[in-house]
Parts: sequence; C-alpha cells; structure tokens
Amino acid sequence: MLADQALAQKKNCMACHAVEKKIVGPSYKDVSKKYAGQNANAKLVTKIMKGGAGVWGAVPMPANPQVSQAEAEALAKWVLTQ
Ligand code: HEC
Repeated sequence: MLADQALAQKKNCMACHAVEKKIVGPSYKDVSKKYAGQNANAKLVTKIMKGGAGVWGAVPMPANPQVSQAEAEALAKWVLTQ
C-alpha cells in the first residue's frame, strides 16, 4: 500500500500535523529530519497506532484506532520521506 497526504487527511492526521509546519504535533519534515538515517519505521508504526508522548514535548498524540497496521506502515513510510 502506498500512502500520501490524501490518506493522512482521510485518517485525520492533518488535524494535528502539516508537512511544513508544527501544528499540535511536529511537522512531518521535522519528523523525517529527526529520524534520517535511522530505522525508525517500526517505532513510528507503533506510535501512529497507539499514540504516546514525550518525544516532541508534553502534548500526547492520541491512539488512532481508525488506522490499520498496513495503513500505519504506509503512513510511517510516507512521513519519513517528507
Ligand atoms: C490530536 C492530535 C494528533 C493527531 C490526530 C495525530 N497526531 Fe501525530 N502527533 C501528535 C503529537 C502531539 C505528537 C508528538 C508526540 C510526542 O512528543 O511524543 C505526534 C507525533 C507524531 C509522530 C512522531 C512520533 C515520534 O515518536 O517521533 C508521527 C510519525 C505522527 N505523529 C504521525 C501521525 C499520523 C500518521 C497520524 C494520523 C493517523 C497522526 N500522527 C495523528 C498529535 C497528533
């Protein structure tokens, strides 16, 4: 499965994220930069599905039960190429 911004929009990710700038959560460009050269895909898949806090600040990312494993993998891959 290939993800793009349309999927991120459909899954409500863009309510808190933008590619270029921080909203509630970090911009996807900043996420991509932070994990450049690391194998961060699995970590981000878990975070996308289950949520969590403490990496970018105190504001938590809620769990996203509307996102399947396959969609989370595709979204993580897409975020990391921004
Ligand atoms: C209600 C707001 C909100 C929604 C909706 C949301 N996020 Fe987040 N996201 C956040 C916040 C806040 C953080 C920073 C969490 C932290 O500091 O650990 C974050 C962090 C992230 C990170 C970086 C994780 C890390 O550990 O570095 C990724 C990737 C991400 N979000 C992707 C997504 C995707 C994909 C979706 C849609 C399925 C989504 N987010 C929906 C608020 C949100």
